[in-house]
Amino acid sequence: MLKIDKLSASYGSFRVLKDVSIQVPVGKIVSIIGTNGAGKSTLLKSVSGLMKINKGRILYKDQNIAGRPAYRIVSLGISQVPEGRQLFAHLTVRDNIHLGAYHYYKKSNRLEIKERIGHVYQMFPILEKRSKQIAGTLSGGEQQMLAIARALMARPELLLLDEPSMGIAPLIVREIFDVIQLLECQNSP
Ligand SMILES: Nc1ncnc2c1ncn2[C@@H]1O[C@H](COP(=O)(O)OP(=O)(O)OP(=O)(O)O)[C@@H](O)[C@H]1O
Ligand SMILES: [Mg+2]
Repeated sequence: MLKIDKLSASYGSFRVLKDVSIQVPVGKIVSIIGTNGAGKSTLLKSVSGLMKINKGRILYKDQNIAGRPAYRIVSLGISQVPEGRQLFAHLTVRDNIHLGAYHYYKKSNRLEIKERIGHVYQMFPILEKRSKQIAGTLSGGEQQMLAIARALMARPELLLLDEPSMGIAPLIVREIFDVIQLLECQNSP
């Protein structure tokens, strides 16, 4: 589904990624492990179009998406859950979820969006209970669930999760990872 081929990327003259190659098959969870500063977030940002790359190819369903703008990459079916969640902290849970569907938000898609919201609420029932709460006041674990829910609203086929367990209690990590595994099962060929 995703094939990264000899990718290099730099911040100015500081090269972070050098000839990185990785493959992600359909329906599989692939983890990237590395020390702080190794370049994991940079790699994910390169895939989602948030990072300018120097060379290499990023093949998604056999088309090279390297260098395409982020909004196009989302439309192709790749969503990122960024490190640190990056929620719209002053908006409600519900509004954050709605914004995940921004690129196909129109009247004719109202029913689909409603169904999707029902689906993410089913995965993370706490978010439905907190739907009117301001996102910035949620607990860390709830915020991570909301960040994932928002990404799922974009209709992704490939989900990029950057540090989904960061700063979260083990029990809640288990809950979040159960949902991630459920997504894997739903997408397995
Ligand atoms: N916007 C930026 N400008 C300059 N250097 C940056 C920028 N973002 C990241 N870097 C540097 O690039 C390197 C890789 O950073 P990156 O965030 O990809 O690491 P990481 O593997 O995700 O680390 P962590 O485990 O701490 O999240 C680091 O040395 C970092 O300081
Ligand atoms: Mg990182």
